[in-house]
Amino acid sequence: MAVATESRIRTLFAARFQKSAELYQRGLKLFPNGVTHDGRFLKPFPIYANDAAGSRKTTVEGHSVIDYWCGHGAMLLGHSHPAIVEAVQRQVSRSTHPGACHELELEWGELVQQLVPSAERIRFTNSGTEATLMAIRIARLVTGRNKIIKFAGHFHGWHDGLMPAAAPPHGSTYKTPGVTDGVKDDLIIVSPNNLDELAAAIDEHQPACVIHEGNGTHWGVVPARADFIRGLRELTADRNTIFILDEVITGFRVHPHSFQGFCEIVPDMTTLAKVLAGGLPGGCLAARKDLMDALAFENSLGQKMKHPGTYNANPLSASAGVAALKLVATGEPSKTANAVAETLRRELNTVFTDKDAKLVAYGDFSAVKILSNYEGPRPATDDFIPYDNDWRRIDCPVDPEFTHAFRCALLLGGVDWMNWGGSTSQAHSLADVGQTATAYAGAIDLLREDGFDV
Ligand SMILES: Cc1ncc(COP(=O)(O)O)c(C=O)c1O
Repeated sequence: MAVATESRIRTLFAARFQKSAELYQRGLKLFPNGVTHDGRFLKPFPIYANDAAGSRKTTVEGHSVIDYWCGHGAMLLGHSHPAIVEAVQRQVSRSTHPGACHELELEWGELVQQLVPSAERIRFTNSGTEATLMAIRIARLVTGRNKIIKFAGHFHGWHDGLMPAAAPPHGSTYKTPGVTDGVKDDLIIVSPNNLDELAAAIDEHQPACVIHEGNGTHWGVVPARADFIRGLRELTADRNTIFILDEVITGFRVHPHSFQGFCEIVPDMTTLAKVLAGGLPGGCLAARKDLMDALAFENSLGQKMKHPGTYNANPLSASAGVAALKLVATGEPSKTANAVAETLRRELNTVFTDKDAKLVAYGDFSAVKILSNYEGPRPATDDFIPYDNDWRRIDCPVDPEFTHAFRCALLLGGVDWMNWGGSTSQAHSLADVGQTATAYAGAIDLLREDGFDV
């Protein structure tokens, strides 16, 4: 790609987000690459946000941008939802850490139990990463087996046990710097959406469990549809293998009863976070009672899995979680967020057709995925998946320079897009969709001006 040396995008971006550029200089002296999450790294510098409300956040320069990060998926209700603000404010003056059991953890757990089919018993954690770590450790403990089967590209948090093969490039040897070969050898990687390959892998490796990311790779970049999930449930049950559905992002977001409710299946274990805690830190494992007994003192296994954790079920997260799940239970948040995302996918594809751009929008529920370097038919219906869901063609690395320029160009149009996939909340409106489509049209022009082949 012949990229212009004098970048118009960079010049405009530096002029528009001057204060962010200044703050970034401080960040660089503190954090690697100046950021506190890999995904927030942006060249020439990331934007800094002051506050957020509804579908928007305001940068330190005072620019209001439409937010498609949605708190990395957590903010299904939109930012600063009054019910969450009120609940957290009430709780913060009471106690942020009594170091004791408390009633809010009961209310929070009861809501999870009511909403999530697999939740016979629950244990709260601080994040999704901790929840998947707990799930595989319990699976190993109760089965006495070591191997875990996961799907290529699926992300389950950043702990050693599941980090390998969490992102492209895909191949026979996945590089996961800092993770030992022993850990990698215990992980069996299979192709997404392929039950035959999975069946053969289970028969060969006799794993402790199979873990699957909600509705597929990175929140549906490679979508897994309900039929596949039903097949996965049946196959693992037939082979007496524990099935963990990682609903850290799909949980409560796609449907009040999560993706498993939508698919009408009950996994053996479910990992949850994000929407669960209403925008505060929190996660949980919600699973079959006999499996969760691994955490109990004096269980039938004769050995207990230890689980401390200073902030487990902390009352602030519990207060936000209770407020959020009460709203989730009405069904409105997921319904509204899903509907606006569907409209956005359609509007963006209209822009891409009009501009004859090598881009396509697709996705399920409240996710909007953008595939670049796309050359194929334009979607006729919303269930369209590029390249007939050939996972090696849709889950592939994108030139980082293009990714940075793409994000900056959209920010210039007032849209903060989460790399190549955005999420909507119940607060996103049709006016937001219209502004986003306009921002995309402007971004394509700018990218072309800068020499990108878009
Ligand atoms: C499917 C999935 N599992 C696990 C995680 C890790 O959760 P956390 O970032 O809360 O550790 C994520 C985070 O994005 C996720 O999307």
